Amino acid sequence: MMTKPPLDILLCAPRGFCAGVVRAIDAVEKALAIHGAPVYVRHEIVHNKYVVENLKRKGAVFVRELDEIPDTTAPVIFSAHGVPKSVPEAAQARNFFAIDATCPLVTKVHREAQVHHKKGRHIILIGHGGHPEVIGTMGQLPEGAATLVETVDDIARLQPADPENLAFVTQTTLSVDDTQDMVDALKERFPSIVGPHKEDICYATTNRQGAVKRVAPQVDAMIVVGSPNSSNSQRLREVAEREGCPVVRLILRAEDIDWSVFGNVRRLGITAGASAPEILVEEIIDAFAERYEVSVESVSTADESVFFPLPRELREQAAE
Ligand code: F3S
Repeated sequence: MMTKPPLDILLCAPRGFCAGVVRAIDAVEKALAIHGAPVYVRHEIVHNKYVVENLKRKGAVFVRELDEIPDTTAPVIFSAHGVPKSVPEAAQARNFFAIDATCPLVTKVHREAQVHHKKGRHIILIGHGGHPEVIGTMGQLPEGAATLVETVDDIARLQPADPENLAFVTQTTLSVDDTQDMVDALKERFPSIVGPHKEDICYATTNRQGAVKRVAPQVDAMIVVGSPNSSNSQRLREVAEREGCPVVRLILRAEDIDWSVFGNVRRLGITAGASAPEILVEEIIDAFAERYEVSVESVSTADESVFFPLPRELREQAAE
């Protein structure tokens, strides 16, 4: 029998599901348990194909916009990323039973933006154009009340009407380091700008990037388990690359491993984005264990105990 080469796997901790993702998935499952199928979900409830396919099998129907939903008494759930104000308004106009699974940490940013707007401040939103969270945050405010900036160069080009009356908010799943640079640039150009103490990046994004920073310099390859459309997963990939890890791949699951790249590693780091289930991490470790004599070590850089209760609409029903 051929002996397998040794492989040390360093597992980043924390990794994978955050409290907002757990809550959003639980909301769909609870709605299915209480109401039966179908349950409509606007947008991918979280950015992970595996999660979405699983929920589809249980009776969830995913739509891009509410006008794809027929008149129904079935629940209509909004995804963890948050939605523009116009979406709950449209749901109410059609008498839908709407359940808002927006992560409470995203809702907090919505509130901040609304408070700044009420105080007459123009808002600078640091984020990635086109991401549903950015569309949702922009959509809390009237047209023209906020300006999106994606880079330090965007900040240099800003020409606000009243530079003394600005506020900033950020997307929750950004690169901690890039965002700090952008906040510094904003404060330098507009010293009276107001905003959160640091930024609005959530605990889960910060902690997962922190663990990757610790592990990436110690390994010769790194796998980030997650979807290409998951912002926080893409940021984990970037952090690992910046830390100088020579091979970094973002993959959805074990079948996507390119063995021409991972066939000859000795130390491998693994992390997972906030929307990637742990079962996919286990599947990947199993795939390596078929080719290598694997030893697994967890590298923990933070403890997490955050928990968010189900959306109010479901808590009330679950209690009845
Ligand atoms: Fe919420 Fe952060 Fe997760 S904003 S959904 S806790 S990645």
